[in-house]
Amino acid sequence: MTYEEQIKAIRDYSYRKMSGDSTGHNCDHIERVVKTAKKILQQESADSLITIAAAYLHDVADDKLVTDPAQLENEIKDFLNSLELSKTQIDEILYITHNLSFSKSLSENPPRLSLAGQIVQDSDRLDAIGAIGITRAIYYGGANSETIYDPKIKPRQKMNKKEYRNLDNETIINHFYEKLLKLTGMMNTPTAKKIAESRHQYMLDFLDEFKNEWDTEK
Ligand code: ADP
Ligand code: NI
Repeated sequence: MTYEEQIKAIRDYSYRKMSGDSTGHNCDHIERVVKTAKKILQQESADSLITIAAAYLHDVADDKLVTDPAQLENEIKDFLNSLELSKTQIDEILYITHNLSFSKSLSENPPRLSLAGQIVQDSDRLDAIGAIGITRAIYYGGANSETIYDPKIKPRQKMNKKEYRNLDNETIINHFYEKLLKLTGMMNTPTAKKIAESRHQYMLDFLDEFKNEWDTEK
């Protein structure tokens, strides 16, 4: 199979898997992550097939989106095998998709990613900030029946993955302080850091305006 045929098959597979999502991880998210990864790739010498494949597949077996991630990882393995990718390539891609999530970075020993993995992680994180990031947080919060805002509930300072995924006492606005405003400082590549700056400022402006409007006595 040629490189183009492999990428096309991976894209079609990812679209089939993600098209039913209604939490902000639909095909439009995947396509933006791939586009950003390609942009960063122009500045970095990472393996293009590994990077693009991992970008397309990064949410397919996400444990917050599917009930049996291990089964889906096996399915992805078989699928990539059928496209004649080598075992090393398949292992590299699955290592990235398994480890790039923000929730993994909350563990005591966060996994180290290859340059390809860092690029996909940056691309995914860039889609979680700025105007699109604000929209996705609200969309995700709505899909999970989160409270919009409650000044009495303070953002959590330290949390493990389980606490991070527990939305009982979570608000959409607190999610900005618990995750989204931290992402700019966590970008791996200079290209992503640069793109993140204005998106970060946009979120700060949004939060200022939101709180002004909330607090009508101000
Ligand atoms: P990752 O895939 O890196 O672990 P998350 O699962 O934390 O990322 O988030 C994926 C998307 O869902 C992001 O756009 C994020 O802002 C949104 N999201 C995750 N948790 C919340 C939350 N508690 N409230 C609102 N949005 C959230
Ligand atoms: Ni994603």
